[in-house]
Amino acid sequence: MLERNVFKLAENVYWVGVRDWNRRLFDALISLPKGTSYNAYIVSGETAKALIDTVNPGFEKELEEKIRSLTPLEDLDYVVMNHAEPDHAGAIPHIMKVASKAKLVASSRGAKMAQVYYHVPQERIMVMADNDAINLGGKTLHFIEAPMLHWPETIFTYLEEDEILFPCDFFGAHLAGGIYSDEVEDYLVHAQRYWGEIMMPFRVMAQKALEKIAGLNIRVIAPSHGPIHRKPELILNAYRRWASGETRPKAVIAYVSMWNSTDTMVKQMAETLASEGVELALHNLAITDVGDLARDLVDSKAIVLGAPTFLGGAHPLAVYATYLFKALRPPTKFAVVLSSYGWGGGAVKHVQEILSSFKIEVVGALEINGPPREEHMQQLIGIGKALAQKIREET
Ligand code: FEO
Repeated sequence: MLERNVFKLAENVYWVGVRDWNRRLFDALISLPKGTSYNAYIVSGETAKALIDTVNPGFEKELEEKIRSLTPLEDLDYVVMNHAEPDHAGAIPHIMKVASKAKLVASSRGAKMAQVYYHVPQERIMVMADNDAINLGGKTLHFIEAPMLHWPETIFTYLEEDEILFPCDFFGAHLAGGIYSDEVEDYLVHAQRYWGEIMMPFRVMAQKALEKIAGLNIRVIAPSHGPIHRKPELILNAYRRWASGETRPKAVIAYVSMWNSTDTMVKQMAETLASEGVELALHNLAITDVGDLARDLVDSKAIVLGAPTFLGGAHPLAVYATYLFKALRPPTKFAVVLSSYGWGGGAVKHVQEILSSFKIEVVGALEINGPPREEHMQQLIGIGKALAQKIREET
């Protein structure tokens, strides 16, 4: 058989994933400027063969062709479903139909999802508890529960003999190209963006998972999106840092402006913070990429929200950004809210209401009528200096 568009990770361990070069949106929310990949892996032991994860719907035939270049698909004994989200599990109905003797391996929560989403009959599902294992003959797969990374049913699979960890979404990046992460320019920038979008809300669970895998010998980490880590310390160190909530003396300024008043306020705030030595990331919400904003929130100590009043509340884009900020749960400690209104305020109150259950210290807020005047600029400088002082004290 001719190996076709696959690559070898270890003896009898192959990547058989697919590259989605043209995908530009995930969850109808997250932009994918570099596409993504859905990585799947074949592990062949002396007595049994397993497929680890599948691919997004629409790529079933491509996956099948890749598997067939290594082994008859009908020979599969196990299909490991690390995670039930369709980008990894969407090809399960097709694979389970052709590989008619294969069992689906999943966590107990995963088993229920496999029945609901993919109509896998209960008798074809093998439920794995934490630390359970399957011996394929010289290749042992251990299963590690990793809830919420990225759904409640998620497990990692660890191939003992080759010291390869298959953690599905965890340690991933939305990149269609590349084989090894250490060969991809700016890999960690992409990984940080992915962390901000997908893993940051689950930092506590990520910390637990990192502790759980700390005792394993890991030679290779093979995630289900983006390049593979053959130098795992690079991504492990980054994940330890991000999961711990370590931040830098950095502020995100997320704003929108209709007639330049909020824009002028925000620019004065940026000048003050920059003069005080604070690293800045400005995001004009009318044109920014949500993924870039999420990436900058990963390691920022502060956020400045610029939210003009729009029909009695905050501008819809500012509401969206504030809601997203709250949902992504970044480790941000301090906030400032700035706003301008035409004939009636309310935006600052609106933003603060959305943030009310989020543990963050609002260092200052300024809501003004019309364009800022000199006294407002002085107030902004004062708020900026106070914010910079807070950031310095935390560093
Ligand atoms: Fe890549 Fe949570 O799926």
